Amino acid sequence: MSALFTPLKIKDITLRNRIGVSPMCQYSSIDGVAQPWHMVHLGSRAVGGAGLIIAEATAISPEGRITPDCAGLWNETQVDALRPINDFIKSQGAVAGIQIGHAGRKGSASAPWKSGDHLSDEDGGWPTKGPTGEVFDPDGKRLWKTPSAMTKDDIEKVQSDFVASTKLALDAGYQMLEIHGAHGYLLHSFFSHLVNTRTDEYGGNLAGRARMMLEIVDRVRAVWPENLPLAVRLSVVDWVDGGLTIEDNIQMAKWLKDRGVDIVDCSGGGATPASRSSMGTRTADQVGLAGDLRKAADMPVMAVGYITEAQQAEDIIANGTADIALLAREMMRDPYWPLRAAQSLGVDAKSFLPTQLGTFIG
Ligand SMILES: Cc1cc2nc3c(=O)[nH]c(=O)nc-3n(C[C@H](O)[C@H](O)[C@H](O)COP(=O)(O)O)c2cc1C
Repeated sequence: MSALFTPLKIKDITLRNRIGVSPMCQYSSIDGVAQPWHMVHLGSRAVGGAGLIIAEATAISPEGRITPDCAGLWNETQVDALRPINDFIKSQGAVAGIQIGHAGRKGSASAPWKSGDHLSDEDGGWPTKGPTGEVFDPDGKRLWKTPSAMTKDDIEKVQSDFVASTKLALDAGYQMLEIHGAHGYLLHSFFSHLVNTRTDEYGGNLAGRARMMLEIVDRVRAVWPENLPLAVRLSVVDWVDGGLTIEDNIQMAKWLKDRGVDIVDCSGGGATPASRSSMGTRTADQVGLAGDLRKAADMPVMAVGYITEAQQAEDIIANGTADIALLAREMMRDPYWPLRAAQSLGVDAKSFLPTQLGTFIG
């Protein structure tokens, strides 16, 4: 019996297996609206057998996007484009999830294949905001915009945008909601003392820096149905000396659990230029940290980072390191990764492949 292919029930949602597609920005939306690309990108991975598909970082407001090409969830047009994608994902037996977030001081950039530089307002960019007015990388090769420090009104607007976006996610048919609290984007930048040097109640000690996230979780949990899972992605370490540690994030996880978060998605890095990216080589160490957090906070976790092999993913679940194994780049290489994993673990893939495929292969 494969642990990886054992269903998982979280709240009223059952995943057919423990394989998840990690959120991946596609930089392919128009005015935040999903395109046919998204149907194929997400739909093909549902056909391929993943249990959970988490749609890319989707901005709660236009100024919350990383780039003008990012996905958004602040109007009905966006909902109308996402609904058929989710209908399809669910028709294939997968669970449709979405990551909602705000880019903070890392917003107003151009897509990676355009230059990745920050866009001036004349070129389609927008003023950025963060916990402080400090620029992300003053000495870097890439240009970064100088943000303004968020006022209390700005904080209130972001929090109510999270609530509005959550309601739209429900309308669009999502079954799992993930709040993006990692990679140096707004919520992580509030939590990390590498960035947040505020002296008001949203800064200071760990509890003060966690306040932004926890207030949002309270408000989101109040509108996201109790029977549907709520997840938070954290950067469980900052990957630089003096940055957030796993202990800090275990405390955050306990606070999140108390507020009704069902599962923590354990990523890492991104707060500052020196803090490694979510795809750097240290990313492989995240899986073990996910296991540490799962044990210490006594709550379900998703592990991510260089998961490529079926036996590796099987061991992660069987050893109790994580409840769900998320794959990003390996899923890009092969949307049929779950089929191949089933074959190599001796699991009957016919049981989850759509009839159009399962009749002929398995
Ligand atoms: C093209 C691309 C886009 C990504 N976009 C997001 C995103 O929208 N939200 C997020 O939290 N992580 C994002 N990530 C990080 C992945 O979800 C994942 O955590 C990371 O790639 C490590 O997993 P891997 O080793 O399986 O690729 C992205 C990664 C890639 C390759």
